Amino acid sequence: MRRSLETALSIADLRSLARRTLPRFLYDYLDGGVEDETGLNRNVDAFAQHAFVPRYLRDVEEARGTTKLFGRTYEQPFGIAPTGFAGLLRPGADLMLARAAAGRGIPFILSGVSNTSLEDACHHGLRQTWLQLYPSKDKSIALDVIDRAARVGIDHLVVTVDIPVGSKRERDLRNGFGLPWKHNSRATMEALLHPGWLLRFLNNGGLPFFEDWRPYAGRQASPMQVANFVRTQSPAQVTWTDIKEFRRRWGGKLILKGIMHPDDARQAVGHGVDGIIVSNHGGRQLDRAASSLTALRAVRAAVGSALPVMMDGGVRRGADVALALCFGASFVFVGRPTLYGVAAGGKKGATKAIDILADELLRVLRQVGVREVGELDTSLLLASSRPEVGLLPS
Ligand code: FNR
Repeated sequence: MRRSLETALSIADLRSLARRTLPRFLYDYLDGGVEDETGLNRNVDAFAQHAFVPRYLRDVEEARGTTKLFGRTYEQPFGIAPTGFAGLLRPGADLMLARAAAGRGIPFILSGVSNTSLEDACHHGLRQTWLQLYPSKDKSIALDVIDRAARVGIDHLVVTVDIPVGSKRERDLRNGFGLPWKHNSRATMEALLHPGWLLRFLNNGGLPFFEDWRPYAGRQASPMQVANFVRTQSPAQVTWTDIKEFRRRWGGKLILKGIMHPDDARQAVGHGVDGIIVSNHGGRQLDRAASSLTALRAVRAAVGSALPVMMDGGVRRGADVALALCFGASFVFVGRPTLYGVAAGGKKGATKAIDILADELLRVLRQVGVREVGELDTSLLLASSRPEVGLLPS
């Protein structure tokens, strides 16, 4: 049966809908990983390696996903990870994701290469919007972005540290999708075969801007010129010296995204960082990277309760959120699931993705016999899932 947004049952259904909605080169950009996509698949497969041993005969009528993080209470233990260039999948996608998150009381991380400016995102009163930063080669740009974020009242800054070099995404290379964007007849044909997407794209004036970068590329710059400017600035080499400087400059919560190694996690604690997102960038940077779930366990074992350890990568079911929490994640983020939703059906589609995961999670909580996410731990897992050490260098 061909599912619609209304009848979609799972994130996999939303993925199929996104595939139908988008020209191939955009679906591949959203869905794909780097090289052989081992890291991407490993993220998803890691969850399937584990199994719950449920506890019954408990009253779980009142179970809920509410979670406290950095002093704020969210409705779910998961939020939306930063995803760049979302405005190309659907015009206004960043704000749609932000509003879907706000509507469901969960955090949304605005990408450092979003198509909505951080000022716009915040003027919509979206208090749970966090900002992700890709540090620039010209350090003054990153520092200015940090100051802008502070001015509009953003209080969580997420610095992505896992792109010391551009990645080799073979789907994009084969499709001729990248910057600078060159005309390519197959892409044009794909666009024509998806008239809904094409109409929205054209009605919105074509290629969207990387809004946050416009002030630095020159006010007269076209979207393509801004994109090319971003390419001259990123990826930049980010080191602990930069983190020290960001820490001095930024009074809000400072979070590092892309930490995988326990020693880096320990160093983050030493640098006064407030939180870590363990992530292999959804398998989009280092193909032979460990899965985020495996790295999470080692990082949590290394830092104990010194700071919140969050994770993203491969979460496609509410049960995956629960598993990550069992292994010590303080919070979980999803990238592709809500992007499939927004590509397929705008804010409604993103909300659908959140609702699917929240419903599945609630069922798992009740099924394993807990009422609060804080009660999830490895005692609910098959013994073979439990050893916490020896997975990665300790
Ligand atoms: C990303 N990711 C990402 N990360 C980041 O820090 N800044 C960004 O701009 C982007 N852009 C981006 C675009 C797209 C299309 C995807 C799929 C991913 C990575 C993202 O934040 C997150 O780490 C992964 O998406 C998590 O894996 P899952 O949930 O997609 O499996």
